[in-house]
Amino acid sequence: MKHNSNIKSMKLYNHVDRIYNELKELGKINSEFLFVEELTNFDQLHYCGTKAVDFSINKIGIDSSMCILEIGSGIGGPARYIANKTGATVIALELQSDQNNIALDLTERCGLSKKVKHVCGDFLTYDWEGKKFDAIVSWLALYHIFEHKILLQKCFDLAKPGGFFYAEDLFSRKPFSKKELSKLLKEIYANYLPDVQTYKSEIEKIGFNLLFCQDMSFEWTKFTRNRYLSYNKQKDRHLRVHGRDIYNSINSFYT
Ligand SMILES: C[S@@+](CC[C@H](N)C(=O)[O-])C[C@H]1O[C@@H](n2cnc3c(N)ncnc32)[C@H](O)[C@@H]1O
Repeated sequence: MKHNSNIKSMKLYNHVDRIYNELKELGKINSEFLFVEELTNFDQLHYCGTKAVDFSINKIGIDSSMCILEIGSGIGGPARYIANKTGATVIALELQSDQNNIALDLTERCGLSKKVKHVCGDFLTYDWEGKKFDAIVSWLALYHIFEHKILLQKCFDLAKPGGFFYAEDLFSRKPFSKKELSKLLKEIYANYLPDVQTYKSEIEKIGFNLLFCQDMSFEWTKFTRNRYLSYNKQKDRHLRVHGRDIYNSINSFYT
């Protein structure tokens, strides 16, 4: 059953322009040039920041000859980081237009518009007009998409022969009750949470050769706990920089 809900119920996706408060804090109040490194503390909307992106760069062997598709690119953090570090071309697809507009602005200010192309659209319906990619990558976006088999088939069809599919995603470690699922839907817009065996077998059934799979539960639990503690420790600073609405919203999301 497809759930009738709204992605904006996930508090991370409210006040997405809060990154400009951080830039103001850095003294960047106009449209001046930005370095990718100045943004990475704020533009990586997944676990473990650029360390996670570096892992994928090394695992896939991304280099300047490659064209990479990122599904669910948010405000463009991973896409800019990959392009800046490797010289690869990155097509960054994002569903939400407010995030995509911010991504466009930040990428332009980093001087990366030739290497990172931001596209606003739904991966399930977007028409790539026959284009193929060396790698399709994604951080914490795929569990939002209920139609997982269609998603995997599209990924398979969009990969060049010998191309890669790399996803950091969520799975269920135990069956959830209806009440828990409804809370997960509201808080993190979780539409697809199979167990890990199902997740792996679906990838293989589509035709991918599964090269690597790692359970990140321990690291991600540690990361999210520290993120919450650190955000709380800096409550006064965040209230000053962002105001009460944003503080309450992000604090509640991190909880
Ligand atoms: C947790 S964010 C991660 C953003 C980015 N990958 C990062 O790590 O900074 C996941 C993103 O996936 C996007 N998304 C969800 N469903 C999508 C779809 N069907 N097509 C494109 N993007 C989608 C959401 O709008 C959201 O911005």
